[in-house]
Amino acid sequence: MAENSHEKTLSALGIAQPDQVAPLFAELLSKANAALQSARSAELFEQFRVQWLGRKSGVLTLVTDNWLKAASKDLKPAVGQALNKFKAELEAAMEAQRAAIESGPESAVSAKDRVDLSLPGVVRPVGSRHLIRQVFQEIEDIFVSIGFSVVEGPEIETPYYNFEALNIPEFHPVRDDMDTFYVEAQLDGSAKTLPGSLLLRTHTSPVQIRTMEERQPPVRVIVPGKVYRRDNPDATHSFMFHQIEGLAVDHDITFCDFTGTIEYFVKNFFGPGVKTRFRPSYFPFTEPSVEFDVSCIFCGGSGTAASGQTCGKCKGAGWIELFGAGMVDPAVYGFVNYDAKKVSGFAFGMGMDRLAMLKYGIDDIQAFFQNDVRFLKQFS
Ligand code: PHE
Repeated sequence: MAENSHEKTLSALGIAQPDQVAPLFAELLSKANAALQSARSAELFEQFRVQWLGRKSGVLTLVTDNWLKAASKDLKPAVGQALNKFKAELEAAMEAQRAAIESGPESAVSAKDRVDLSLPGVVRPVGSRHLIRQVFQEIEDIFVSIGFSVVEGPEIETPYYNFEALNIPEFHPVRDDMDTFYVEAQLDGSAKTLPGSLLLRTHTSPVQIRTMEERQPPVRVIVPGKVYRRDNPDATHSFMFHQIEGLAVDHDITFCDFTGTIEYFVKNFFGPGVKTRFRPSYFPFTEPSVEFDVSCIFCGGSGTAASGQTCGKCKGAGWIELFGAGMVDPAVYGFVNYDAKKVSGFAFGMGMDRLAMLKYGIDDIQAFFQNDVRFLKQFS
């Protein structure tokens, strides 16, 4: 086909027979397709559109004028038919090209980032609260239900709060049992603390002092938290473990309130069939001091296991040592400016890990800290 054949009429092109019309359009269509193929951007596509469909001087307008309108009567039906077919084909080709241009950059990206929806999904395991946390919560719930509130204190302490204010002067032999980690720290932009002036608390009891410094009686608090000692790890020892401290101070608290509270707690925690007893003990910050025992929850207090052999858990004693406690030593009140003549109270400090081990039948404290999900999952 001659260049720009559409600018000439059919007679000028020498077409006189209807069967010459279809090839003419076929040639025009292949020309259009070739041009369309190279219109690969939105801009080039628009240029193509103006060139071919532009109202005034677009190819289609000229074809309509020169080929259809100017056609002889004999040729007109054939030209009209061929033109309609041509228009439909051109439109379809343009539509396909437009879609290709629009999805072009997208499909290039998706080729590498495509999400295959038929693949199985990624299973993200959902964690659960650690058994220690759960037991903290159980104990807190019991004490909160009888009017205690929960307070916390710092894990890095001064010897004053950890020892002195609890009636443990320097060189007191009890400090040997509570050997710990001393730290140097930079506090609030000031110079580093002197060695020995800060330590990792060995018990939660310093929070007794901190609480009494801040509040006037009545005080009823429990204090969950981590504590540290220079212990070598074995099945029942860890250099870090958990305690829950209790403190109740008011004007008329007696030893009976104390034992009643403990009994209420123990029966709620271990079950109503469990019995309690206390034995004399010693802590510098309580007087009198006691050690609380519970009847062995494994052999029911008989000392004999179901197998008929001596119970391995209580070693035949029928009792299991639970925690230390006592009436707050009046000397302690002196450190917090309470009037020891007017107030009285009790305090206790329970090893949380030990309580959890007893209740859930765990025989190695290290299991709590090894992060083995096979262990942790049993308590989710
Ligand atoms: N703080 C003691 C300890 O860790 C326990 C205790 C707390 C004893 C409160 C009496 C009163 O061993």
